[in-house]
Amino acid sequence: MSSLTLEVETSSQKKHKQLAQWVEEAAQLCKPDRVHWCDGSHEEYQSMLRLMILAGTAIPLAEEKRPNSILVRSNPADVARVEDRTYICARTKDEAGPTNNWEDPAKMKAKLKGLYTGAMAGRTMYVIPYSMGPISSPIANIGVEITDSPYVVANMHIMARVGTRVLEVLGEDGEFVRGLHSVGAPLGANDQDSPWPNNPVEKYICHFPDTREIWSYGSGYGGNALLGKKCHALRIASVQARDEGWMAEHMLILKMTSPSGQVKYITGAFPSACGKTNLAMLIPTIPGWKVETIGDDIAWMKFGADGRLYAINPEHGFFGVAPGTSMKSNQNAMLTATKNSIFTNCAMTPDGDVWWEAMTDEKPAELIDWLRRPWTPNSGRKSAHPNSRFTTPASQCPVIASEWEDPKGVPIDAILFGGRRAGIVPLVTEAFSWQHGTFLGATASSETTAAAAGKVGQLRRDPMAMLPFCGYNMGDYFGHYLKIGVRPGAKLPKIFYVNWFRTDENGGFLWPGYGENSRVLKWVFERCDGKVHAVDTPIGRLPEPADLDTRGLDLPAANIAKLLSVDVEGWLAEVPLIREHFAKFGDHLPEGLRQEVNDLEGRLKKAKK
Ligand code: OXD
Ligand code: MN
Repeated sequence: MSSLTLEVETSSQKKHKQLAQWVEEAAQLCKPDRVHWCDGSHEEYQSMLRLMILAGTAIPLAEEKRPNSILVRSNPADVARVEDRTYICARTKDEAGPTNNWEDPAKMKAKLKGLYTGAMAGRTMYVIPYSMGPISSPIANIGVEITDSPYVVANMHIMARVGTRVLEVLGEDGEFVRGLHSVGAPLGANDQDSPWPNNPVEKYICHFPDTREIWSYGSGYGGNALLGKKCHALRIASVQARDEGWMAEHMLILKMTSPSGQVKYITGAFPSACGKTNLAMLIPTIPGWKVETIGDDIAWMKFGADGRLYAINPEHGFFGVAPGTSMKSNQNAMLTATKNSIFTNCAMTPDGDVWWEAMTDEKPAELIDWLRRPWTPNSGRKSAHPNSRFTTPASQCPVIASEWEDPKGVPIDAILFGGRRAGIVPLVTEAFSWQHGTFLGATASSETTAAAAGKVGQLRRDPMAMLPFCGYNMGDYFGHYLKIGVRPGAKLPKIFYVNWFRTDENGGFLWPGYGENSRVLKWVFERCDGKVHAVDTPIGRLPEPADLDTRGLDLPAANIAKLLSVDVEGWLAEVPLIREHFAKFGDHLPEGLRQEVNDLEGRLKKAKK
């Protein structure tokens, strides 16, 4: 293909020689029928929707139900992130560490070049310049994704700032992360396209941290394909952050305002599908308190001149898990997704709207399920895929904070770590120090969910909720945290560990969660000013039942007591598991964390006596 076949070529596209050359090379390799540079316009977004509707990829939803929205059904073999096909191709296996798949970069590139050869035949190659973060924010970062999927283009329009305005910031020689994506389904002259093209045999989500490149092949779904999100904003950015002394984290960002108008900004790291979106948009049940949203999935934090960590949400939309989202569980997410949204793998109602499990108390009498089959409540199966999603503009969120696009970010007061644990882990624990907080994050564990392919409900250690997203050796990542903690002049946030998912003997939740989590946030908020009491325990600082604002909460006192108790025997049994988890990192495990596990054991043994 020669560059003469470029559909439109404007001066801003040619200005950046390296970008133009890379696009030309990708076109020569993938051999698309045409190349389209995305301008980021509304018309372009609408034309992607039309293309998907024409191709049978999408169905327009009823205009009077969800204006300008579509439902997309993917191939059943392409429904979640594929962690076993995700690689960190650092120079050495040791640099990728024990928690990542690794392949030699040259070998992986050779293999992928074979797969990419002619991979876009019969398709359009889209070039999407995007900014992760408010355009020209000092914390933001630019990437360019090349893709052959209109679904990706439309989703990227919502999830990032895209188009010509990004090229303008990039100028003639600005740095950018290069992302090459193909669904891996070339079309011959007489081939009929499938509604969800993907490659049933080969899938690779590869990161080349040293050259800041992402090569993704074979999948069109979510984090595998929307390269600005997990691939760039977490895996590549975590490496950039390590090199440049900042933090790229799998964290929501929320703004909390007290009845007297005092504001604090809190980030929270929880594994996929553990309610980050719900917490980010929570409606407090305690009178006078307000929570507003800055971000629901990723935080980039850099030090300001005052020594505080300032965070931006690098994204521009929410890619939320649909099942379980309802007017009860997350009214604000429901109201965000009322229009201009893309729904993937949800069920469809007879009147042209979407539905998913637990959206309403009563199940609809009939639906078309995500596999396009008729469904009734008696079908004995779920109507929406457990990892079905909504992609929706953050600006539509009723509680989006006014400063969510502030280029300088918001100063963070507290960091929450957490996971889904049925036993042992209390409702909330405050770390003794930044190092102890790093230890709490590094030992975070959770029962697995449907956000990634694989078994649901198994316990896995998910340090800082970054296990699938850390772009380098996780032992060194812990070291980076400790380094942040000793930065001269740093005024660091306090660190807490929360667990909303503790159950009783019958598997019922001890804590009601959702809006009631504001009671825990209030304690966190007031701890930041030292205004509320906490008691030192072997595992950290905990509220006593009287320290938690439980006014108006109809919960047995025994539940609260259990949620705030320390199970010394249970924790002693956890210590060898923590050591086993840490042993994986060999000599990459920082000494500070080895010391923390020893100290924990010492405190527990003393308490047992
Ligand atoms: C997500 C995830 O999609 O964490 O946010 O899997
Ligand atoms: Mn996530």
